[in-house]
Amino acid sequence: MKLILALAVILQVYVSNTVCYDYKEVLQKSLLFYEAQRSGKLPSDQRVTWRKDSALNDKGVNGEDLTGGYYDAGDFVKFGFQMSFTATILAWGLIDHQKGYEDAGSLEEGRKALKWALDYILKAHVSENVFYAQAGSGVADHNYWGRPEDMTEARPTYMINTTHPGSDLAAETAAALAASYLVYKDLDSKYAQTLLTHAKQLYNFAYTYRGKYSDAFDDVRCCYNSSGYEDELVWGAAWMYRATNDSTYLKYVDNEYPTIQYYIGFSWDQKAGGADVLLAKITGQSKYLTKITNYCEQIVNSQQRTPKGLIFISQWGSLSSTSYVMQVCLETAALGVNTAKYRAETKKQIDYMLGDTGYSYVVGFGSKYPTHCHHRAASCPDKPATCDWNQFSTTEPNPHVLTGALVGGPGADDDYTDLRSDYVHNEVATYYNSGFQTIIAALIELGYSD
Ligand SMILES: *[C@@H]1O[C@H](CO)[C@@H](O)[C@H](O)[C@H]1NC(C)=O
Ligand SMILES: *[C@@H]1O[C@H](CO)[C@@H](O)[C@H](O)[C@H]1NC(C)=O
Ligand SMILES: *[C@@H]1O[C@H](CO)[C@@H](O)[C@H](O)[C@H]1NC(C)=O
Repeated sequence: MKLILALAVILQVYVSNTVCYDYKEVLQKSLLFYEAQRSGKLPSDQRVTWRKDSALNDKGVNGEDLTGGYYDAGDFVKFGFQMSFTATILAWGLIDHQKGYEDAGSLEEGRKALKWALDYILKAHVSENVFYAQAGSGVADHNYWGRPEDMTEARPTYMINTTHPGSDLAAETAAALAASYLVYKDLDSKYAQTLLTHAKQLYNFAYTYRGKYSDAFDDVRCCYNSSGYEDELVWGAAWMYRATNDSTYLKYVDNEYPTIQYYIGFSWDQKAGGADVLLAKITGQSKYLTKITNYCEQIVNSQQRTPKGLIFISQWGSLSSTSYVMQVCLETAALGVNTAKYRAETKKQIDYMLGDTGYSYVVGFGSKYPTHCHHRAASCPDKPATCDWNQFSTTEPNPHVLTGALVGGPGADDDYTDLRSDYVHNEVATYYNSGFQTIIAALIELGYSD
């Protein structure tokens, strides 16, 4: 018995030290997942062909065209805050880890994934101080199980404006557009200028009219309450400064910085860690670097781990939560702080997700991966078969492989069951993949895929 255990341990060490994952393949697949999340009229170069045109009547209250953009997760709501955050993080990767995208042959696809969100964001920003925050009702949408092209429920749209402001949402969207300006400025200067103009207006709206977007309208409270907007005002100003070199934005950072709170994560709701590493990079000021270093030390040295070594931040979407904290620590490593340590830890966390426990949490990657992720479209067979709640309940695998999607992931004891009904551990989301994908691009850039 002892001998068997010893052999098992040796084998495990051997396996975890020798298995290499094809990060380029992971990046390519992650980009396919973004195609599977597209709403609106699909383009002729759409590669995920089991998805069809949908939500072609999404409109603002004055008839503005709000088609396009991304479905958030396994549902069909276009949640603006999460979409903007996804765009910011994708743009960050495309700016600072462009070589990773190039090495994977995925630069063009990476930009397309970003632009799909940007084109929608530009439509949703209908005037200086009016931005559509959401299309589709979280409540009504979640009562429907079926294909997106078959939806018949009403899809109301919700805005933020001067009487019902959302500084968190508007500042995050400014961050997304400012970061994307940096992606496009040498590629398409006209488009880049458009992005920057909207970014400036949205930041000004966020800063002048204060409030939490989840206090502005009711529907989003089902799903994504905001804990505060101060962190987004700092984070947004940091990106605005990076894009413009305008010192006004640094003044805004200084004004708001003392009010921001550090939570454990870096996420759609919590920006402190990302803001600190970005400010450390672009201002060179040691106070930011000290803060982010303390944060990463705490995460890497002391944060709860699962028995198999996953840094555990949250039960819901555990792998995405881990990805984001590792992304900020990987960006910290690039500034010369504990470089080898943070890179090794990041790789270890990512390799956990890709198969080190004998299971890949990325759909369609590796030999054993989730076949029942919580995703309405992937769960529906091709027409003319019907698709309804029976398809949600069946134990059969999803008829369509949602290639590249990172599922929620295991609980605190590495516990995980591939169940469609378990949206806590087995749903997917556009913002689950963005931090993860950005790390993958960085690891490729570092040569870890060669
Ligand atoms: C401002 O936004 C709120 C919340 O979405 C909405 O109820 C209200 O109608 C909007 N005001 C105008 C003038 O459109
Ligand atoms: C969001 O906040 C509202 C009150 O503002 C509360 O009723 C609701 O339960 C909260 N939702 C979540 C998901 O935390
Ligand atoms: C900001 O400054 C950097 C470095 O000095 C420069 O490369 C960049 O072009 C400037 N950007 C703008 C928008 O002026």
